[in-house]
Amino acid sequence: MRIVRIFDTTLRDGEQSPGASMNMAEKLQVARQLERLGVDIIEAGFPIASPGDFEAVRAVAQEVRGPVIAALARSREADIRRAAEALQPAQRARIHTFIATSDIHLKHKLRMSRQEVLEAAVAAVRLARQFTDDVEFSAEDATRSHWDFLCQVCEAVIKAGASTVNIPDTVGYTVPEEYYELIRHLLEKVPNMDKAVVSVHCHNDLGLAVANSLAAIRAGAGQVECTINGIGERAGNAALEEVVMALKTRPHLFEADTHIRTQEIYKTSRLVSKITGMVVQPNKAVVGDNAFAHEAGIHQDGVLKERSTYEIMRPQDIGIPQSRLVLGKHSGRHAFRARLRELGYELTDEELQRAFERFKHLADQKKYIFDEDLEALVAEELGQVPEYYQLLDLSITSGLKQQPTASVKLKAGDKELNYLSHGDGPVDATYKAIQALTGTRSALKKFEVKGITGGTDALGEVSVVLEEDGRTVRGHGADTDIIVAAAKAYISALNKLKLRKG
Ligand code: KIV
Ligand code: ZN
Repeated sequence: MRIVRIFDTTLRDGEQSPGASMNMAEKLQVARQLERLGVDIIEAGFPIASPGDFEAVRAVAQEVRGPVIAALARSREADIRRAAEALQPAQRARIHTFIATSDIHLKHKLRMSRQEVLEAAVAAVRLARQFTDDVEFSAEDATRSHWDFLCQVCEAVIKAGASTVNIPDTVGYTVPEEYYELIRHLLEKVPNMDKAVVSVHCHNDLGLAVANSLAAIRAGAGQVECTINGIGERAGNAALEEVVMALKTRPHLFEADTHIRTQEIYKTSRLVSKITGMVVQPNKAVVGDNAFAHEAGIHQDGVLKERSTYEIMRPQDIGIPQSRLVLGKHSGRHAFRARLRELGYELTDEELQRAFERFKHLADQKKYIFDEDLEALVAEELGQVPEYYQLLDLSITSGLKQQPTASVKLKAGDKELNYLSHGDGPVDATYKAIQALTGTRSALKKFEVKGITGGTDALGEVSVVLEEDGRTVRGHGADTDIIVAAAKAYISALNKLKLRKG
């Protein structure tokens, strides 16, 4: 199977997404993860754009050893020299130089003739070759360029020493059939095209970036430029995870693979989302929260019987531990029982039937059914969760120059207990006091605070997840005092653990 190179431009084109800028430390973190993911080329930035970009490219070039490190440069001497300087520490460096080839850009932006553009492209490639053997040339706005001129430019830059020629759909204008034809045309008509790798770089203005990239691969492209989560200028670039998983899922169709370690995809997606603040939409292909979540009863039943009925990829292959059955009004008994089992509840058939009826009733009223709703429901079926631990009192001292201290009074069974503890913050002090009073061995896996209403008098809701001996329980607490809400959440989870242990 031929290998298609993955050129990741999350740190360059991806960073051009409004609001997605990253500092140097963040870029390094992403670059290291891209290395673990197995991308062939990391485009680390555009060094002439700013001193920060220069430093980031330099740092990536210095620290990241596996992939080729690329830097972008317009077809201008100063850009190319700056890119070369930033790439100096790289083990394998690529200078990526570009100039527009479409008449629209020539006339309105560059104010250059075709001949002048051709000469600038050739000169840029020649200069870049003085610094590295690995030079990529991009014909910006290639898909709106005249095909004969594009052929002429490709031939000339390859002759000048470009080993990769990129045919960007800069404005996301093309469609798969047309792009396929263009790549085939170049491969057939440019006499020295076999001396270079044809690369594609698609923007998503019409939502076709991935489809166009895949069409180009079928036409013979050997490199795809893409970004994690599809971030990038305007509507973004082709999403790396979608291109890679399409090739993996349909090997007979594409007869092409990549070097990507797909199990690293999810982690990379989440890292980029966290760092850029660009949320991954829940229904995003491959990495969205719902990509492996099944709600419809028929689907849930099918997946529980045989995964491949409704899943074309295995979540584990992307690095997601397992598919999620989302319980809602469309869910069936099979999924309901499976989820309860995961939560550690084994009900008799009769109990299950009654609990399922309650669940259906609840699902009609509530959009999302969370695990704690199920637990409450089962608790009602099996008898309420007894409040073995009860919060009787809590007082906190805390301040700018004071170590936070919590004094907690609890009821444990029929005993009343007090404890005073210090901590790194008021919540930490409170939790330490509760731990001392209950002797719990559970680990706090999650702590979340939400404001339920707006304003400073808002009711705060705290959710916690505790784990003990492989069992996980959630606890909730709400109060206008956020520390009290946190204490209540912890105690409610401890009561559930106590119930499970008996
Ligand atoms: O979209 C584009 O044309 C680009 C080039 C610089 C490759 O990002
Ligand atoms: Zn681009």
